[in-house]
Amino acid sequence: MLSNKSTQFAKLAVNRLLKQNQSVRFFGAAKSFHLESPENNETTFFDFTDENYERANRVLQKYPDNYRQAAMIPLLDLAQRQNGGWLPLAAMDKVAQICHVAPVRVYEVASFYTMFNRTPVGKYFMQVCGTTPCMICGSEEIMQTIQGHLGIKNGGTTKDGLFTLLEVECLGACANAPMVQINDDYYECLSKETMIELLELMKQDKLPPVGKWGSLPMNGQVSCEGPLGKSSLFTIPTTLTVDPDRFKDGEVNPADVKKHMAY
Ligand code: FES
Repeated sequence: MLSNKSTQFAKLAVNRLLKQNQSVRFFGAAKSFHLESPENNETTFFDFTDENYERANRVLQKYPDNYRQAAMIPLLDLAQRQNGGWLPLAAMDKVAQICHVAPVRVYEVASFYTMFNRTPVGKYFMQVCGTTPCMICGSEEIMQTIQGHLGIKNGGTTKDGLFTLLEVECLGACANAPMVQINDDYYECLSKETMIELLELMKQDKLPPVGKWGSLPMNGQVSCEGPLGKSSLFTIPTTLTVDPDRFKDGEVNPADVKKHMAY
């Protein structure tokens, strides 16, 4: 049994943690603990639709019955898609019930993987890569452009609930840096101008389709083809528009990278 003093100390510690948390501008999804909110509390309801129950059953059939927990990540993804891009407690509890595991097992997974959002996100969830190749090619300018255009900060959502912005680590499209993931799709080889173009198109609900590759370079090239067109290590590309000897003297100025990449 805790003494009065220990109870008071515990309360103080929790309150301090909550206070710090409110003053930190971190995106909610990144927190490792749950914060009660009007849209996410013990009374929040979640259940899969009939259609998604069918999908969930198809997922479960891929695993032996005594390994139902293996379906946890696909089921969380299904729940998140059904719920507009984020997971309330009730959705995680439903997945735990289906997987026959304690709810905490699902909370652990959902709070570990950054693909799961545990606070609401906008209709267009924009994840801008800020890792080195993207940073060298201008991701900071892309972040500033979005922030200036929409009046939100990193981790913020616009008041109309249309956009959420988050800076993330490498999304594996480094060859076409800088890039942004918007919901499921990649928009690459961005410039300030093409980013604004994308934002305006989203406002009109006319985001250009990314086609079969799941990615759309915004400078006209095809997928990962490269700014010089199709090329190989054995031939000099015929469409070469930059000086092939440009790095011969060993001097590389990072400020000129975009120019050398023909952006
Ligand atoms: S560094 Fe940006 S996608 Fe890899």
